[in-house]
Formats: sequence, structure tokens, C-alpha cells
Amino acid sequence: MDHFTDRAGRLFAEEVDLTALADAVGTPFYCYSTATLVRHFGVFRDTLAGLESPAGEAPLIAYAVKANPNVSVVATLARLGAGADVVSEGEMRRALAAGVPPGAIVFSGVGKTRGEMAAALAVGIYQMNVESEGELHALSEVATALGTTATVALRVNPEIDARTHAKISTGAAENKFGIPLARVPAAYALAASLHGVRPVGVGAHIGSQLTDLAPLEATFATLGQLVRDLRTGGLSVERVDLGGGLGIPYRPDQPPPPTPAEYGALVARATAGWGVRLLCEPGRLIVGNAGVLVSRVVTVKAGAARTFVVVDAAMNDLLRPSLYGAWHHIRAVAPTGARMTATVVGPVCETGDTFAEDRDMDAVAAGDLVTFMTAGAYGATMASTYNSRALVPEVLVDGDRWAVVRPREDIAAQLARERIAPWLSP
Ligand code: LLP
Repeated sequence: MDHFTDRAGRLFAEEVDLTALADAVGTPFYCYSTATLVRHFGVFRDTLAGLESPAGEAPLIAYAVKANPNVSVVATLARLGAGADVVSEGEMRRALAAGVPPGAIVFSGVGKTRGEMAAALAVGIYQMNVESEGELHALSEVATALGTTATVALRVNPEIDARTHAKISTGAAENKFGIPLARVPAAYALAASLHGVRPVGVGAHIGSQLTDLAPLEATFATLGQLVRDLRTGGLSVERVDLGGGLGIPYRPDQPPPPTPAEYGALVARATAGWGVRLLCEPGRLIVGNAGVLVSRVVTVKAGAARTFVVVDAAMNDLLRPSLYGAWHHIRAVAPTGARMTATVVGPVCETGDTFAEDRDMDAVAAGDLVTFMTAGAYGATMASTYNSRALVPEVLVDGDRWAVVRPREDIAAQLARERIAPWLSP
């Protein structure tokens, strides 16, 4: 469900005409819908209603900032009560700049530096999700040197196949993430014995774009057993982080993934009686359908074997199709009703710069606008300046108002970031 709808034959973002917006800001650009963000966050929060901790705390919904770190997007969610799951000092600074309270920030990631640990401790974040015994020792040293105590959850590798794309699967034995399940009790006891570290719980995140609840169900069962085992061993467990990963619909022609309501019912069933505060780290589910990438057709080119629609966006702007073979629905902003079969490509000098192959799509011609739907998650944030292309603007819409929340970064800005070595100066 999103708020990008047809009005008299043209695509609107809420009350804003995307054709007029394209004229105002130029193409390509990302456009985000506040109403969609608000709706998705609200739906997710509602699915976890009634799952308070014994102390009466609602689950902490720590939005995975990596999915869309635009500070206005994070600020929109922060105002709704979202916390933040961050994986770098940069993401932590963004979350703080967006108004997320330090006490609602969770720091995840497999390779936190000592500098990042110190920064997070100085800020007073809610929890560090630790991914190895080595990291526990490092964190203990950093916290002790600062005269503070790090509140820690151990990220477990539950050795479960998430049944998603291999590049975004994180919970299998061969993946780099988390502490192998069998070693977690010892690692937890180690954490309890170290200076400057206080273990409060465990967590898992098995992958992204999950379209099957069974691996999550198995993961939650594993976490539940682990909580019981740790407690039997005399250790205190107050929190469990269930991670993120719930998939979203990308293809109108395929069955939708499990709904947030089905996920919520699973969480309620699986976590009954745990007696902990629950944390979740949803990213894509909150922002994916809240964003589109708007692009203009440069030319329609008849190749020897197929028809190419060449657009002014490229793989550097939206990497997912070329990196994961991801499918994004492509539609004309003002469809005529006619259809065509075309391969949609960008201007970058790589054959991998392909958004869709032999796609049945709205017929378009040079100058027409197209949108890549469901581009709010892992879109702008994975962009690069490859081929010395400018980073595209991001626009946030709210009802009938809109604002450029990241201006286009032109070539002058790119050049200003670089230096000619002294010996090369004229
Ligand atoms: N928590 C942790 C520890 C994560 O690593 C991730 C995502 C999330 C939460 C949020 O997962 P989500 O709810 O968004 O599925 N670039 C890829 C996705 C990478 C996901 C990385 N980790 C893509 O475009 O599909």
C-alpha cells in the first residue's frame, strides 16, 4: 500500500504531480511519500501491540537506517517514535541529527571499530549488538578506559537458511554475521565476567527481503530456547532483538510476501512467556514502498535483437537490479494505454547497467517520464558517482507540500572534493 496514485492519467505522490515535480527539480530524482512512511510505521507498530515487556515497555522499533538514511526520512520516523538500528558512526550521527533519542539507538554490525565503540558509548546509546568474542574484549577495554559500561546483546548466528538472495542472507553457518549458536552461552558468560560490559540479551537477523515466515519462526524458536538455556545457567536475559528482514511486494504479478499482521501474529506466538523487552530492526518494510525513482526517457533505440529504452537514471542511481537481479516495477508517469516490450537501460558504459530485460511495459517515447517503483529502500543510499554522474536529488512529499531533502550534487561539487597533487599543478 502506498500513496503514489493515478490522477486523471498522471502519477501523483500524495497531492503532488510528479510531472510538475520533474519540471521543478529535474530528472532523475527520488521521491518519498510521508503518508506512506507514516502508514507503514503505524501498521508495523500495531502488529506488535500488546507485546510489552514485564516492565510495561512497548517493543523498540529500531528502524534500520541503512535502508534509507536520508535525515528527513529518519526524522519523519523519529517523530512517530521510531528508534534506530545503526551500523556505523555515520548512521548514528544521522539518527541523532534526525532526533532519535540516544536511548533508542541500537548499534549493530560485524566490524565496529574501537573509535565507533567509543563514540557510541559517549552518546549513551541503548544497546550494542556484539557479533564476536573478540569484539566483546575490545568493547570491554574501550568502555573500561572511558569509565563506563556497555549494555550488550549478543547477535546469534542461528545457522538458518533465510531462503532469500544469497547476497542478502545473513543467518547461515557460512555467513560472517553473529556468534555461532553453540558458542553463545560461553560468550554470554564471558560478557557477564568482563569489566565494562553488561550483557542484557540476544538477537538475530537472518537476512533481508524474506518472503517466507518459516525461517523466522525457526529463528525465534532458537532464540527462545537460548533464553531458557541462558537463564538455566544463571544468566539474566532482559531483551531479545528479532532483527528485520520482512519482505515487501516488488512485482504486481507475483503473490505478496507475508503481511505485517502475519509477522506480528508469529512474533506474539513465538515470544509468549519470554518475559523480555522485544526489539525489531525493520528497514525495507518501512521505507521500500514509500519511494520511487523518477527518470526521463533519453531515447528509444532499436537494437539488432531488442528494443532499448534508454533512461537518464543508471545503475549508479539504483543499483539493485544490476547487483541482485532485483525486479522493480517500471511505469510511465502518464501512460497512454499502449504497451511495448523493451529492455530498460541507463547511460553507464556497462551492459550490467540494465533495469529490466524484455519487459512488457507502458509504451514510452523520448522525453516521457518513467518511475521505478518501490525504490525507497536501498535506493539512493547505495548510489555512487560512477561514470562521474551527479548524485540525484531526493524529494520528500507531505500532502501537497514538497521539499528537496538532498539537492543534486553536481560535477562542480564532485571536483571540489578532489585535489590536484602539488606536483601536477600548473
Ligand atoms: N538489521 C540488520 C542487522 C541488518 O543487517 C539489516 C539489513 C536490517 C536490520 C534491515 O533489514 P530489512 O528489514 O531492510 O530487510 N541492499 C540489499 C539489502 C541489504 C540488507 C542489509 N541488512 C537490497 O537492496 O536488497
